[in-house]
Amino acid sequence: MNVHAAALAKTHQFDEPTSAFAGDVIDDLSQFPKRLSPKYFYDAAGSELFEQITVLPEYYPTRTELGILRSRGEEIASIIPKGAALVEFGAGATTKVRLLLERCDFGAYVPVDISGDFLSAQASALRKDFPELAVHPVAADFTAPFALPDEIEGMPKVGFFPGSTLGNFEPDEARAFLRSARDILGKDALMIIGVDLEKNERVLYDAYNDAAGVTAKFNLNVLVRINRELGGNFDVSAFMHRSLYNRERHRIEMHLISKKAQTVRILGRNFSFRPGESIHTESSYKYSLDRFTALARASGWSVQESRTDSEAMFSVHALAASD
Ligand code: AVJ
Repeated sequence: MNVHAAALAKTHQFDEPTSAFAGDVIDDLSQFPKRLSPKYFYDAAGSELFEQITVLPEYYPTRTELGILRSRGEEIASIIPKGAALVEFGAGATTKVRLLLERCDFGAYVPVDISGDFLSAQASALRKDFPELAVHPVAADFTAPFALPDEIEGMPKVGFFPGSTLGNFEPDEARAFLRSARDILGKDALMIIGVDLEKNERVLYDAYNDAAGVTAKFNLNVLVRINRELGGNFDVSAFMHRSLYNRERHRIEMHLISKKAQTVRILGRNFSFRPGESIHTESSYKYSLDRFTALARASGWSVQESRTDSEAMFSVHALAASD
């Protein structure tokens, strides 16, 4: 917990996750430029909106990654040791992990997520369909170090980080995350990771500016969440969604733009916005195969196999701990 969060927890009697959210929101809206962390998109409504995004015609990543996992599933299974523990960083839809669980002989499955609710929903769905599988959920923010459950001690470890969630990290954070995953999983670990690739800018732009406006709703929902959970008074209709591709930095940026001069009150603090002022809510980095390989190497991993779809839209990599 940061200093703000600790103070807020005392004065407002929040539980720990809520006070971490409160502390981050206050810190991040006090910066210039203002920002919010994309990890807070995923309350119940945000997760539902994200599920809708994954099936939009413009949003290619999910269906492309699923296609790679389906067509390359046997190849991936062939490098995974029997009885290994599969540690998934993040919990949500179970579609992708099922593709691995169906093809490999895992000794245990360990989903790690900040939201206890998603974890229990996911664990019960998987326990039903894979009754033999030991499921050991860990409620933790996987962007910080956490301990693996004692039950999987001695099992080979395989990390799973699909969906190009890595793209949400700044390059230094991505390195720190991969390094920390390497330390948590141990020296003989493998990691299966999905990474979105740089491509035609129109395709990238459209994927984050869908015609149906679902991405806009998803982006704006973080303000709704702040209002509900932290007692904020955002007028959500006074902000608009903007996504753009930043070519120099190889990333999609999502912003919420204030339509007018306004002041918002959250937890006894005032945040003033100029007309046109932005809250940077998400970066989604796009990699080249070379840039990803260099990143993995710099973080204690070597790339064993890389697979893309036929149009090289998306990539799935098998990494092996290298030191
Ligand atoms: C879940 C981080 C991979 O960056 O494409 C989708 C989130 N944001 N549309 C992405 C997202 C807007 C997504 N990731």
